[in-house]
Amino acid sequence: MFDGAVSEEISMEDETNRVKTGIPGFDELCGGGLIRDRTYLISGTSGAGKTNFSIQFIYNGITKYGENGIIVATEERPEQIRENVLKFGWDLQALEDENKLVIIDACSTKIGIPSQEKYVDVRPFDIRSMMDQIIATQEEINAKRALVDSTTSVSFYLQDPAKIRIELLKLSTTLEVIGLTSMMTCELIDESKPSRFGVENFVTDGTIVLYYKRHENVRMRSMEIYKMRGSDHSKKIHPYDITPGGFVIHPHEEVYSMF
Ligand SMILES: Nc1ncnc2c1ncn2[C@@H]1O[C@H](COP(=O)(O)OP(=O)(O)O)[C@@H](O)[C@H]1O
Ligand SMILES: [Mg+2]
Repeated sequence: MFDGAVSEEISMEDETNRVKTGIPGFDELCGGGLIRDRTYLISGTSGAGKTNFSIQFIYNGITKYGENGIIVATEERPEQIRENVLKFGWDLQALEDENKLVIIDACSTKIGIPSQEKYVDVRPFDIRSMMDQIIATQEEINAKRALVDSTTSVSFYLQDPAKIRIELLKLSTTLEVIGLTSMMTCELIDESKPSRFGVENFVTDGTIVLYYKRHENVRMRSMEIYKMRGSDHSKKIHPYDITPGGFVIHPHEEVYSMF
């Protein structure tokens, strides 16, 4: 199912300009890392690994590169997120206690339950309110990275693709202007399209698609850099594993027979 070595030359940029995800195998697929102060869409079906992949970017940012982070959680309560990723050895609570990480609870109010969290978005369907919270938090902890997980619940509320496009453009532009390199997740139902409402990928500078495809009687995990403005990047589909330590991408192998 995997090809051998990938004979693909990807030009490396001056690495000091790049924001490293630190996710094994990923940065070398896009010239040494993400471009600073840009926004990236992480698309995939449910269970593909969007949340874990993006949290690894935030966690590595703090622990390996000294860049503080913000997570806006619209789909899962912060408590669940902390518990889930602790299995990878990522202690988010410890980073929050050191004021290196803030998790904004944009989930509890949405589903009508009280929140014990310090940071709560009480108007979770309002992009303006989300942006105000992010701006205030960014100033508070001098964050350099952010994650909005996910764009899909906000998009369902807005419904109209034209409105979704303009609201997400406001969000991604605001994140960029205030100096955040960000990931926003997007839940797919159809893996042949890079976004759910057909517009989310237009307002971000890059799109990374995580696939979780069935091949005969097993599901295979693979990923593709679908778009990355301003950077050379791999055009191939690479397998990855979710290991006890998190994501590991195999940059020198490619998946070909499933597509
Ligand atoms: N410790 C682990 N080891 C291996 N795989 C895991 C582990 N924890 C979660 N997973 C996998 O990750 C999937 C969930 O990833 P997640 O990032 O929450 O997906 P998404 O956000 O795309 O819905 C699970 O369905 C499971 O297959
Ligand atoms: Mg998720």
